[in-house]
Amino acid sequence: MLVVRNGSHARARLLGISAYVPERVLTNADLETIVETSDEWIVTRTGIRERRVAAPEQSASDMAAEAALNLLADTGLGVEEVDVVMVLTATPDYLFPSTSSAVCERLGTKAASFDLMAGCTGFIYGLAQACALVEAGLARNVLVLSGEVLTRFTDYTDRSTCVLFGDGGGAALVGAGSEEDTTGFLGFELGTDGTGGAQLLIPGGGARRPSCAEDYALAEAYIRMNGREVFKFATRAMVDSATRLLDRLEMGIGEVDLLVAHQANLRIIEHAVKRLGIDPERVYNNVDRFGNTSSASIPIALAEAIQVGRLRPGDLLLLVGFGAGLTWGSTVVRYEPALVRA
Ligand code: ACO
Repeated sequence: MLVVRNGSHARARLLGISAYVPERVLTNADLETIVETSDEWIVTRTGIRERRVAAPEQSASDMAAEAALNLLADTGLGVEEVDVVMVLTATPDYLFPSTSSAVCERLGTKAASFDLMAGCTGFIYGLAQACALVEAGLARNVLVLSGEVLTRFTDYTDRSTCVLFGDGGGAALVGAGSEEDTTGFLGFELGTDGTGGAQLLIPGGGARRPSCAEDYALAEAYIRMNGREVFKFATRAMVDSATRLLDRLEMGIGEVDLLVAHQANLRIIEHAVKRLGIDPERVYNNVDRFGNTSSASIPIALAEAIQVGRLRPGDLLLLVGFGAGLTWGSTVVRYEPALVRA
């Protein structure tokens, strides 16, 4: 990326959203054959009925790249017009190089690229970064990509976590509007409570517990979660973050056309929806078919909402995420698919 700032402050806009999910489906009935659980328990406690699993040769970069290719096809944007490729992932291909490097190779671009890690809140953080890059005049078109293969780090002997996670990718195009534009991203609310870091983590494989350590145990390679604490945090964070942002914007929840929250668990979302006082008709969920795909869950839900006509051009969106860190984030944005092909 080579940038000479010209002092213009074009508003960043959300120009497109696409997704990708792998073909293999893992149903609750399949899980009943692996651990002691039941479809009834999983559906009642989480709302999840099935999730997708990446093929053995696929990785996080493939999830992100497939979603990006769908986005470029959907919007008609040429890859040469992309200035920055950002990949949000909690399950990177490698410690380094970045997963975004592999995505750039797949897309055939030499754009600036980097990974951003904010757990399941990654997509909201990514949108904030893209918005800042565009509004600072550093980039015109930014690909905000999620690529997650959580099933690779899921312990299929632990029934309290293995029912939750799935794989997938998401893609959003954030681009510059004209200087007269008054919509785009209205605001962000982002935060971290690092004291909760141990509640949800993969303890091994990083510099603190390298997998080459002599006493490294296989169990350290898997997702470890204190489900009850994460549940309490998630409901609180969703409501507090969205309320703080709407208050600052002097907006009421009634002005929101569609709320899409991180698809971790239907019970968390229903609890938050009730407390926020938003009409459930204005909430879109698909956790039942994809499970928790971490940073990819919001774009996967948004892409489906577009497909089924629940998200229309001009709609005001409230997006809310929460996840490892513990992190949280919200944004209010108008969906303006200016590049969609006729
Ligand atoms: N099938 C059957 N029984 C189970 C299962 C299962 N899959 N999992 C746990 N149980 C049992 C437990 O062993 C326990 O049995 P016990 O009472 O005999 O000890 C009982 O069910 C209750 O266990 P709890 O953990 O208290 O169940 P809870 O109602 O809290 O539900 C759950 C567990 C679904 C994990 C819940 O805590 C939750 O959703 N937490 C948030 C998880 C989440 O969304 N995490 C990710 C968010 S951030 C991100 O996306 C990275």
